[in-house]
Amino acid sequence: SEKYCVIGNPIAHSRSPEIHTRFAAQTGQDISYERCLAPVDGFAETIQRLVAEGYKGANVTVPFKLQAAQLATVLSDRARAAGAVNTLRFADGQIFGDNTDGPGLVADIVKNAGVSLQDKRVLILGAGGAARGALLPILRERPHCIVIANRTRATADSLAQQFGQHAERADQVRATGFEDIAGPFDVIINATSASLAAELPPVPASAFSKDTLALDMMYADKPTVFMEFASKHGATTRDGLGMLVEQAAEAFALWRGVRPETGELLKAMRSQS
Ligand code: ATR
Repeated sequence: SEKYCVIGNPIAHSRSPEIHTRFAAQTGQDISYERCLAPVDGFAETIQRLVAEGYKGANVTVPFKLQAAQLATVLSDRARAAGAVNTLRFADGQIFGDNTDGPGLVADIVKNAGVSLQDKRVLILGAGGAARGALLPILRERPHCIVIANRTRATADSLAQQFGQHAERADQVRATGFEDIAGPFDVIINATSASLAAELPPVPASAFSKDTLALDMMYADKPTVFMEFASKHGATTRDGLGMLVEQAAEAFALWRGVRPETGELLKAMRSQS
């Protein structure tokens, strides 16, 4: 059986082993998948050890996604644009780095929530690694516009400029401060890390309508403060569990060449949490 793992710090609560074990059973792939705790200052050494021990790949989570992008010897286009890597593949002496978070997010919105992004007005809250990973895959869906709102305005400006180069037309990607958000939006994605601290990014109520899909990249056993706020203002809400399962399916497909089915697993995980 071929070995894979998820590397992070902390890692004890990762649901990735459960997801990949289910995918392996479903597709008849003979793999093992475990949690790997890397010391905060020992990511590179941990990767070296995994390669030496014959691992075929790894998922990477907080706080190592940026380091993983630097350590990879080959990067996919989307990983390079994101500057962050969540999936590593070890083959032929190379470390191939990809980012399946953004594609996972898009798959969850389009396939699982049944919401097309084409010609839609999309608002992204945050301009860190999570937002960067989402931008190129969302642009590929040909939205009407993507507005990036961030607490530190300058970071949003530089993201809008960078990803504007991949846009179909000027103004398709724009930056704004939270106070200048002019809604409503069709889709609002919370890509800030505010939910981790049970904080609400200062998004105005006018950003939401009853036709808005509001998605928080975080998931927990109860709705995040962002989801509660969005719901209070009429939006349909969604947490990050679907994105988690979809990014895993994309990583599994990269490693094994077969794409697992996600619907049943997502349903099972929802009813159990
Ligand atoms: P990640 O990899 O999860 O994206 P990150 O790169 O550290 O983490 O980025 C965190 C993002 O959440 C940033 O956009 C940050 O805003 P700043 O750039 O102004 O720091 C945003 N963020 C964190 N806490 C926040 C809060 N309480 N309200 C609004 N935005 C917040």
